[in-house]
Amino acid sequence: MKIPDIIIAIDGYSSTGKSSLAKKVARKFDFLYLDSGALYRGVTLFAQEEGLISRLGTVNPGLKDALEGLDLHFGAEGKLYMGPRCIEQQIRSMEVSAQVSPVAAVPYVRAWVDEMLHEFGRRGRIVMDGRDIGTAVFPDAQLKIFMTASEEVRAKRRYDELVSKGESPLLEDVVKNLRERDYIDSHRETAPLRRAEDAFELDNSDMTFEEELAWVQGLIQGKFGIL
Ligand code: CDP
Repeated sequence: MKIPDIIIAIDGYSSTGKSSLAKKVARKFDFLYLDSGALYRGVTLFAQEEGLISRLGTVNPGLKDALEGLDLHFGAEGKLYMGPRCIEQQIRSMEVSAQVSPVAAVPYVRAWVDEMLHEFGRRGRIVMDGRDIGTAVFPDAQLKIFMTASEEVRAKRRYDELVSKGESPLLEDVVKNLRERDYIDSHRETAPLRRAEDAFELDNSDMTFEEELAWVQGLIQGKFGIL
């Protein structure tokens, strides 16, 4: 199925499976997949390594100038790099997850990330996932999806993912982190997480990947009149 050169925005709560769905959609329709959360995670790792964030998550205003020297880019297989260093594994750690939402709430951090996202958007044929893609980054995206799932399902998914990567988190810490991030992400002043009015909602608590993909395919066929 050949679809037009559109932007597909996938937003939603933590660990709802946005990136898994976005990757599948990208592969299916030959789109570029872009993970905006990875960039917020990369900035957070940078702030931690530069000593620009306290243990309680207070961001040092020096981060603003420091960002001018930060080189984050996607390399082979969409993995995130900081300069020459692949940081894909580190940005998925609990340490980074614990501090990413306060960092992502800072307006100049969002402006810095948005600039990169807009650059990618210029190419079209892109599927991007995050919290504010359909509301703030690309409000004119031609297809918007808002994902939800039960807390139990989301916590289990994130827990299994961390374990498969060699971490040994406590399930209760994973739940706590999801709740904290969802709260901060939904209540921040700049580009808070919310469903765009024209987004289609997908609760995938009880869906398989195949069912999800079929759902998206149906949406696209309906919206663009493709048979
Ligand atoms: O994979 P998961 O849904 O748990 O999170 P993520 O997409 O990797 O995003 C990590 C964090 O980055 C989120 O909790 C938000 O604080 C922030 N974020 C954001 O503010 N705006 C975006 N467009 C994407 C992520």
